[in-house]
Amino acid sequence: MQDYNEFLAEILIDEKTLNERIKELGAEISADYPDGNLLLICILRGGVPFMVELSRAITAPHMMDFMAVSSYGVGKRESSGTVRVAMDLQMDIRDKDVLLVEDIVDSGHTIASVLEMLQLRQPRSLKVCALLDKAERREAVVPIHYRGFDIPNKFVFGFGLDLDEYYRNLPFVGVVDLDKYKPPA
Ligand code: IMP
Ligand code: MG
Repeated sequence: MQDYNEFLAEILIDEKTLNERIKELGAEISADYPDGNLLLICILRGGVPFMVELSRAITAPHMMDFMAVSSYGVGKRESSGTVRVAMDLQMDIRDKDVLLVEDIVDSGHTIASVLEMLQLRQPRSLKVCALLDKAERREAVVPIHYRGFDIPNKFVFGFGLDLDEYYRNLPFVGVVDLDKYKPPA
């Protein structure tokens, strides 16, 4: 496996900055959802590190569930308009205050489809918390109620974001130099 230092163009958001911002989001969410009806839904797999830290930063009582979606076709680093549920929730979200937890909103197609699908299940409320917002790439209209950071139109990795499924464990968000990155064989 290639050492990420070989293709790391820059550290965009370091560990300390991530942790501080996530604590702020946690405090904001705790104040907004005081009554124990909050259900955090982590979008697998990229949302996992963010979900863990965010959940720890939320002092209000809350539940957790997980779902996996995958988008059809197009290039490997592009999301299409069509999203398929690869693993559905275990909980019934009806009348719950649902907060979707995502690593990044890029084109917006993923979150737009998930929102449309979950709305049909009649939650009491349905909102989005995204660690990163790459707004320049947006194609679908998606409301982001809690946003960690606005980022430029660059391909990033670390803190949940993968390159060919690796590097999600890194504690920072880094920019990839795609000329230097070699995909695993
Ligand atoms: P969207 O449907 O285009 O908003 O794409 C969302 C998904 O694409 C995210 O959940 C990520 O898995 C992936 N993605 C988008 N941009 C990046 C990136 O810069 N690095 C790694 N994954 C990304
Ligand atoms: Mg993802």
